[in-house]
Amino acid sequence: MTTEQELFVRASSLTIREVVKDYGAHRAIHGVSLDVAPGEFVVLVGPSGCGKSTLLRMVAGLETISGGEVKVDGRVVNEVESKDRDMAMVFQNYALYPHLTVRENMGFSLSLRRAPKGEIREKVDAVAKILGLEAILDRRPSALSGGQRQRVAMGRAIVRQPRVFLFDEPLSNLDAKLRVQMRAEIKRMHQRFRTTTIYVTHDQVEAMTMGDKIVVLRDGRIEQSGPPLALFDEPANTFVAQFIGSPSMNILPGKMTGEGFLTDGGVLLAADTSKTQARFYGVRPDDVTVSREGVEAVVTILEPFGSETLIGTTLGDAEFTAVVRERVALEPADTVRLLPNSQRTHLFDERGVRICG
Ligand SMILES: Nc1ncnc2c1ncn2[C@@H]1O[C@H](COP(=O)(O)OP(=O)(O)O)[C@@H](O)[C@H]1O
Ligand SMILES: [Mg+2]
Repeated sequence: MTTEQELFVRASSLTIREVVKDYGAHRAIHGVSLDVAPGEFVVLVGPSGCGKSTLLRMVAGLETISGGEVKVDGRVVNEVESKDRDMAMVFQNYALYPHLTVRENMGFSLSLRRAPKGEIREKVDAVAKILGLEAILDRRPSALSGGQRQRVAMGRAIVRQPRVFLFDEPLSNLDAKLRVQMRAEIKRMHQRFRTTTIYVTHDQVEAMTMGDKIVVLRDGRIEQSGPPLALFDEPANTFVAQFIGSPSMNILPGKMTGEGFLTDGGVLLAADTSKTQARFYGVRPDDVTVSREGVEAVVTILEPFGSETLIGTTLGDAEFTAVVRERVALEPADTVRLLPNSQRTHLFDERGVRICG
């Protein structure tokens, strides 16, 4: 019998050094460096087209590397073929073989390696048990739900016992409910196997909830990397501040005066007046309350979620959002007084780099 213990692998370290990717004259990745420790779960997140898949595919060996190095356990693998890198990749389109059963799909890579039939059967059974796929081992992919297919694709990757797992937006094709379920499942799986993992997504919620470390990518460059809550609490710049967290952080342009931060729309907000270089003021919608001491804003939209209410407003000439826990008797065009929590505001300089907060 293959025990769960035997399925555990030696997780590798990954080192990405000044990696560059050029597609002809177009530079898609501009010298990215990143260290992934053995067993770590790193999420690469960023808007569509920022280079996430390109970077992942270079790590996997599916794309040539124009400059820099990718190392596995300290060894440069730039020239090593994909099949010899001992990594498994899971995509959003599950890429299962339609004519093979679940069992055959899961055992496929081991069959290719000419592993003994008994060993393949044992490993597939052990992984199927962990992922709850025992009852569907004889079915073909066409007879499976989206979630089951995704689980089989993962099972197939686990059976290979790779040193590194690479996920490229594996949940994008699933409906919202299933996505939340699979998110938890992938996380649990990682806690069990502790395989080094790079997980790509454009969804900041997935990034926040899944990663030990998040790397925010924009236009082929790293904007910031670190633990999820560190990025949330101390975003390096306005891009990360607005990308991480939902709804997005309010960012108001303006300047510091002797009295406080004066927005371009003429609203005065309490702030550390010693930070004279501040050009943007930021506060998350959750850190704003309705209060008599607040500044006047005009309500544009109300979105009651039940447990909380989103209040969209115009503050001076800028859009400004608050999310409050209490039920509010407000209507569009009403005036409301909003008070940012002064302990939770951020100031950024003219380049959008965070000064303090
Ligand atoms: N095969 C290719 N040929 C030319 N340009 C490409 C190719 N693949 C990706 N790109 C470009 O590289 C950039 C990054 O793409 P990609 O890595 O797919 O982004 P993401 O996965 O973050 O959405 C984009 O500008 C894209 O148009
Ligand atoms: Mg992509």
